[in-house]
Amino acid sequence: MSATWTDPAAEAVARLVAVRTGFTYAQQYPAKTEESIRRSMAAQGVASVSEYLALLERTPQAMEQLMDELTIRETYFFREPRHFEFIRDQILPQLREARGHEHVLRAWSAGCASGEEAYSLAILMAQSGLSDAASVLGTDISQAALTTARGGRYRDWSLRGAGSKFMSSWFRAAGPAWELIEPIRRKVRFAYLNLSLDAWPSHVSGTLGMDLILCRNVLIYFDAWTVEQVARRLCASLAPGGWLVTASSDPTLGRNAGLEPHVTEYGVFYQRPVVEQRPLLHDAHESPAPPIKPRRAARQQPARKVRRPLETPEPASAPLAVGDRARAALLAGEYRRVLELIPDLRGEADACRLRVDALANHRGPEAASDAAEEALRHHPLSTALHFRHAVLLSSLGRLKDSEQALRRVIYLDRRLAVAHFALGALHWRGRRLEAARRCYRTAERICRASPPDVELPLADGQSAGSLAAAAARHLSALGGQEEAIPA
Ligand SMILES: C[S@@+](CC[C@H](N)C(=O)[O-])C[C@H]1O[C@@H](n2cnc3c(N)ncnc32)[C@H](O)[C@@H]1O
Repeated sequence: MSATWTDPAAEAVARLVAVRTGFTYAQQYPAKTEESIRRSMAAQGVASVSEYLALLERTPQAMEQLMDELTIRETYFFREPRHFEFIRDQILPQLREARGHEHVLRAWSAGCASGEEAYSLAILMAQSGLSDAASVLGTDISQAALTTARGGRYRDWSLRGAGSKFMSSWFRAAGPAWELIEPIRRKVRFAYLNLSLDAWPSHVSGTLGMDLILCRNVLIYFDAWTVEQVARRLCASLAPGGWLVTASSDPTLGRNAGLEPHVTEYGVFYQRPVVEQRPLLHDAHESPAPPIKPRRAARQQPARKVRRPLETPEPASAPLAVGDRARAALLAGEYRRVLELIPDLRGEADACRLRVDALANHRGPEAASDAAEEALRHHPLSTALHFRHAVLLSSLGRLKDSEQALRRVIYLDRRLAVAHFALGALHWRGRRLEAARRCYRTAERICRASPPDVELPLADGQSAGSLAAAAARHLSALGGQEEAIPA
């Protein structure tokens, strides 16, 4: 490891990268980092490092391009095969038994690089007969890696090791490369996500209610504080009873992340327990000016005891109303039970929302989006349903429709910070940076007007303080000129 910088401005670049992305690795390897900076400067046509630093401060695209240079994207199909054996032999059967056969398993490769890990999961699901009952999300901070991932074409090098066994069944030859067959490609959706910017888990990023997360060989690039923050968020992304798999070289995660470690002959795996859970998709407030629920009130609820992970909670002694039972089932990740309890969309908006949430987790975003649309015909003024609909449309890639739905939410309730935040994310995706900045500023202003520990409506349990911090970090990552915040 070289410990010296030849140019102090390069060290400042590495510091900026660490602040904006949590990627502290660049600070530890000055020589390698300076080499990446030089390549990026050439690509941007910039002559001096200080000029380049200024460009990074104000242009998110320049930062993205530098991240493409800095990140180590080493990966291959079925890397650490023991992990995939454990998933196939232990995790999938357990989840299937607990969630029911109709449940669509949701898996996420967080830090997926060029997609090999995400596609390995899709192949494993297909081998386990779960082709129609699983979906996989792959996210990364490197746009270049995501472009390769979406292409689904790989060289032999990506198929070294255990991967080579799968070539004939799941790939077809495409010149010197191997192309994944369409049914596997269809199962995986790729998206940009910076794990160390704390705007997730969220509906917008589709990172809630996961049954299985692989976050391998990513945490090693973060400092201890960022590892802890990311671990907590990964736990919150999991549905109760869901599993997290890290690499054997990754830092061990403490119990304070909320995860239960399982030491097995296949390695260490983590599971989110089924106690003290929050709803996967949080309770809605239907009034145009929603009351803000103090966090403390939520904590006073007694933690529900379960007999074993992934099991239905004990029924309370007094019979519960259908809505409460459905809410409890949603909390426990029993989506099929929610659908049995609320079999159609003819009831109150709140019941419809529970059904939509269960459908999103059980059958996927398309079925849930259709249901939300139908429910909105009966409840056109429901901000919660409009917001759900917006999120689902965004996860289906229908960004224009999603934007319109978010505008409806904001029209109905201008104080909904999450709606401004979500609209900011859509603008960012569409490269409308000034519009994105405006939305994040509004979200931050609304959040700062509340005590930091109050839970925000429709925010998946996020507090005003944490959403304000997320908005501030997004604003910092977006760079650009500060504008006066409108009163
Ligand atoms: C070594 S690869 C791991 C790929 C795969 N998970 C595996 O184990 O084979 C690490 C990946 O983490 C990504 N990464 C680094 N920092 C990140 C961040 N803050 N958010 C999301 N991804 C990040 C890098 O772009 C890179 O693609």
